[in-house]
Amino acid sequence: MTPTDSPVIPFPVAQRERVRVFDTTLRDGEQAPGFSMTRAQKLRIAHALAELGVDIIEAGFPQASDGDFASVQAIAQEVRSSSICALARCQRGDIETAARALEPAARGRIHVFIATSPLHREHKLGMSRAQVIDAAVAAVRRARELCADVEFSAEDAMRTEADYLADVFAAVIEAGAGTLNVPDTVGYTTPAEMHERISYLRREVRGIERAVLSVHCHDDLGMAVANSLAAVSAGARQVECTLTGIGERAGNAALEEIAMALKTRAELFGVETGLRTPRLYPAARLLAQITGHAIARNKAVVGENAFAHESGIHQHGMLKHRGTYEIMRPEDVGFARSQLVLGKHSGRHALRERLAALGHTPDDAELDQIFTRFKTLADKKREVFDSDLEALALGRDAEA
Ligand code: KIV
Ligand code: ZN
Repeated sequence: MTPTDSPVIPFPVAQRERVRVFDTTLRDGEQAPGFSMTRAQKLRIAHALAELGVDIIEAGFPQASDGDFASVQAIAQEVRSSSICALARCQRGDIETAARALEPAARGRIHVFIATSPLHREHKLGMSRAQVIDAAVAAVRRARELCADVEFSAEDAMRTEADYLADVFAAVIEAGAGTLNVPDTVGYTTPAEMHERISYLRREVRGIERAVLSVHCHDDLGMAVANSLAAVSAGARQVECTLTGIGERAGNAALEEIAMALKTRAELFGVETGLRTPRLYPAARLLAQITGHAIARNKAVVGENAFAHESGIHQHGMLKHRGTYEIMRPEDVGFARSQLVLGKHSGRHALRERLAALGHTPDDAELDQIFTRFKTLADKKREVFDSDLEALALGRDAEA
């Protein structure tokens, strides 16, 4: 079996549907405290996202500030291979500003949103159900006068009454929205609820066949990626996400996790993205460099430990067949190779292998001696480096 072999019968490749990847690193991601970026920095990230093959880049919220307007405009001017999206509240001023910022775009999208849940209607907006629908319809109509591609988001959709949400969506489809987004704004939902909600909307919304259903999950309970995948299983065909999951509070669904889950378990999901996944790690590193926030070592897919193995049992397995402890190929996400890290949990096999790579081929008795001294050293250090091993192989004391 190769690492990606699975006992499950694969979904026929020819029947895989495309899921659009909508990246909001530069809008929702940037809204997180400590993650704001300059125009030049946003441009660099936008180019990296385009190289990665993201379908839609949400570049900002032009009405929020002159700086955000300028960033969206610059990205629309320079980045030609992805659609460029600008966010707007359901207000004429916001929508017209978004349209102006998108003027240079090869393909632009206006994304309008309004909250639909009872909590938000009553306490934040002071609007009735009917008033929210009227505002949403008017906004989508105005946006469609200015842009052919309009997305509508029902903020706090997952805490909105299902039948009312279906009415809102039917009304905005009629007004011209091509994408309907279901945000789990506060990260409250579970995968089963998400599956149920997307299935319900696909069944009940009038005109749904004319639109793409999208999902936008936050990670307050650590379920953003699981919820996004549940939505895809139920028929959502756009996922909104950010690089490494940056975003408001606990963040958004992590793009690289969704991408690799859909790819690694394609036989279950039956969909594909247009992403060039070997660009994932470089894009995540660029974001970390720009924001100054390091990627956690144990971060799924792009963390430094994602393809590193220290325990002797795992290293022994990896040396026999990488599929024993790896479900993805490091090259597929942009790492050069898997790493067998030598430390106190490592075994003789990995030590012999590493020494051979460094040009040392001790016989069994010599290896025994080196191994004993290696373990003594490893007890004192977190990681044993090649220079330490060379010293041990040459019979010198390595630096503790
Ligand atoms: O989380 C949310 O509801 C949003 C919307 C603006 C889509 O970010
Ligand atoms: Zn959000």
